[in-house]
Amino acid sequence: MSRPRLTAEQLRSHRWFGVDTMRSFGHKSRAKQMGYDAEDYSGRPVIGIVNTWSDINPCHTHFRERVEDVKRGVHQAGGFPLELPAMSLSEPFQKPTTMLYRNMLAMETEELLRSYPIDGCVLMGGCDKTTPGLIMGATSVDVPSIFLPAGPMLKGRWKGVTLGSGSDTWKYWAQRRAGTIGEKEWGEIEDGIARSPGHCMTMGTASTMTAAAEALGLTLSGGSSIPAAFSNHRQLAVATGRRVVDLVWEDVKPSEVLTRESFENAVAVVMAMGGSTNAVIHLVAMAGRAEVDLPLEVFDELSRVVPALANIRPSGDYLMEDFHDAGGLRGLMAELGELLHRDAVTVNGRTLGENLDGAEIHDADVIRRRDNPLSEQGGLAVLRGSLAPDGCVIKTSAASPELLRHTGEAVVFDSYEDMDARIDADDLDVDENSVLVLRGAGPLGGPGMPEWGMLPIPKKLLQRGVTDMVRISDARMSGTSYGTCVLHVAPESFAGGPLALVRDGDLVELDVPGRRLDLHVDAEELERRRAEWKQPEPVFARGYGKLFAKHITQADKGCDFDFLEGTGGAPEPAIH
Ligand code: FES
Repeated sequence: MSRPRLTAEQLRSHRWFGVDTMRSFGHKSRAKQMGYDAEDYSGRPVIGIVNTWSDINPCHTHFRERVEDVKRGVHQAGGFPLELPAMSLSEPFQKPTTMLYRNMLAMETEELLRSYPIDGCVLMGGCDKTTPGLIMGATSVDVPSIFLPAGPMLKGRWKGVTLGSGSDTWKYWAQRRAGTIGEKEWGEIEDGIARSPGHCMTMGTASTMTAAAEALGLTLSGGSSIPAAFSNHRQLAVATGRRVVDLVWEDVKPSEVLTRESFENAVAVVMAMGGSTNAVIHLVAMAGRAEVDLPLEVFDELSRVVPALANIRPSGDYLMEDFHDAGGLRGLMAELGELLHRDAVTVNGRTLGENLDGAEIHDADVIRRRDNPLSEQGGLAVLRGSLAPDGCVIKTSAASPELLRHTGEAVVFDSYEDMDARIDADDLDVDENSVLVLRGAGPLGGPGMPEWGMLPIPKKLLQRGVTDMVRISDARMSGTSYGTCVLHVAPESFAGGPLALVRDGDLVELDVPGRRLDLHVDAEELERRRAEWKQPEPVFARGYGKLFAKHITQADKGCDFDFLEGTGGAPEPAIH
């Protein structure tokens, strides 16, 4: 796009470095204390590189070096790079769940970018919630921003078998519980499943959200699928650093990139990728920051018309490395054709459609053509009904087709601990037609809405060969999980949603084609139960958890804090 460029005096950082005041003297003398001089900070865009590297985040181990590549690109283009470390949300290690802290990273990103002399930024993330957290923060500040994805890790291997993050953990854990593999094999799988830097290489939340970021126009075209260990990933980092400097001069802000059309592109891509249900919550929250209306129905509507094309586990056969070699996201988006808004603006200065010109699919089994999709529909449905008045979601592509219409008797667990204690008990009154219900796992109840939505199949049923059942909860589910799991039930049980009133033996009807989830208990009985129901005690009496509990919105609203939606309300900091 050809557009007028800012002058040096119009840069945000000019107020820190370009004026002749005592405060500016302080900024410049302290910059010199760090070894910089006027050549670094005079009239150059200051690029904040928000880096979520941490010793405890295996998906971001390469970010410590990769940030130097970003800086190289910024220098090449005449900018002044400054690294800003931010909280790393490490999916495997952070408890009770990284989702509790997504909004904290968003707040930290927002305040870092606002309070320092930042003209533009590179957001370095990839492990699950880091992508939405970083983008939500930058969107609220509305400074020119590019998202640099961590890239997927390389494929795992064990005895000639390809291993995928998450999915194979569940699969082989089920085999270990059933006694078909032992401790030795389990240890070997542990050695082989994660062998390089990078985020999970299945179609989990990480691959879903980095693809969504590229579809939104916030990542350089073709970048999201490049494996972290490839030299091309270093080149992507350099190119990102180079480009963000021009993005500042051209004054292209997230508010210009993030529109209803770009969010629809992201939703369509999530459907075509067979993406994680977590994307629903994150995209709704991100849209809220951009002041774009994105109701749950948009996901359902696009799911009905967008075919699933990416043949990636857990819904398909391959991994992200194969997807990249087969043409990557550009190949997939080009195949989607008119299902995308091709005139959407992207951060490389071209429209989405221009970016897709010349894109090819090199392996039509990995990235399917539209006339040979994995499934005709995108694999996600939004349901409503007496058990979920404000909605819930199910990943139909990971569910058993014969269970998509099912009525069964509820077997209810009040909490994760309750489920953990009783699920494998011999005397649990359950059979393959039962509907497993877990409550106390929502945004407030979890707290933080943990990924407990794939309830384990009771051991005695596993041993009889049962591999799937209808499961319902107010929890989320990892994108690498599978099964007929109804998730994100809103309002959650902790907040008094109907899920709180279900009892063992109640009939629950799941009707995915009809988009319904109903509890067949008469109104009078439900009223009686409601009168008996007591609001659980708050989990946190202090600190961030208390703030979280006070301001978190429900799943259908994206679980953002109510006071963080939108962009307005925070003035530019005074410099006195
Ligand atoms: Fe980081 Fe899966 S653990 S993306």
